[in-house]
Amino acid sequence: MARITAGITTSHIPAVGAAVDLGKTGEDYWKPVFAGYDWVKEYEKAQKPDVVILVYNDHASAFDMRIIPTFAIGCAEEFPIADEGWGPRPVPVVKGHPDLAWHIAQSCILDEFDMTIINEMAVDHGLTVPLSLIFGQVDPWPARIIPLAVNVVTYPPPSGNRCWLLGEAIARAVASFPEDLNVQIWGTGGMSHQLQGPRAGLINKEWDKKFLDELTSDPQALRRKPHIEYLREAGSEGIELVMWLIMRGALGDKVKELHRHYHVPASNTAVGHIVLEPAA
Ligand SMILES: [Fe+2]
Repeated sequence: MARITAGITTSHIPAVGAAVDLGKTGEDYWKPVFAGYDWVKEYEKAQKPDVVILVYNDHASAFDMRIIPTFAIGCAEEFPIADEGWGPRPVPVVKGHPDLAWHIAQSCILDEFDMTIINEMAVDHGLTVPLSLIFGQVDPWPARIIPLAVNVVTYPPPSGNRCWLLGEAIARAVASFPEDLNVQIWGTGGMSHQLQGPRAGLINKEWDKKFLDELTSDPQALRRKPHIEYLREAGSEGIELVMWLIMRGALGDKVKELHRHYHVPASNTAVGHIVLEPAA
């Protein structure tokens, strides 16, 4: 049977992708950002996941105001890299896992989560920056990727609790897939950041660190955190953190924290990264 073996989160800052693509990761500014990802690159070489369910948000690349799915699952064979204005990032095409993706879509929909099924979609920095940070500069990507896009761009995003429950439904779906697959689930986006207005550049270290602590030790509190708290404490784009709760809900009650990295600033945001495994 397929099984979820790990949950990983990371920010997906576009400037981090540019630093990778332009060969700047060794510069003084960027070194401490990337050093925090050395551990996970080795972990992934040892873990060799077959499939990653990659929870992320699109930034007006595949979706715009014409269509705003709350939860969308990519069921295609492959997903091209989006052109976000400077040409597509020079990274490998993203190969999907249609059999598992369709199974998850079916299982979640019959489990009362109305997923939008997407068969044609370009993927932007929200998905490719986490791949670069966690797998490094490799070709091809070492795992099949199931993109799971969440609307956190246009009000209203889903509640944290809804995200958690979707994570639980995804875990049930994976556990009922008959093929023997090592599956990871990643939650991306966050941590505190605000890109516009008088509070642009907002970073709230204490709040971020408490969020990381609670992700491991007291996730039930996070399920009920209202949107307004994310906005007030973590900035307007801090709401991306609800996506981490899909990952966390999929891991079950108890987890083991294997690695954590927090660094500010990168671009004008906070970088947060954590590696968890389900614990009995
Ligand atoms: Fe984002």
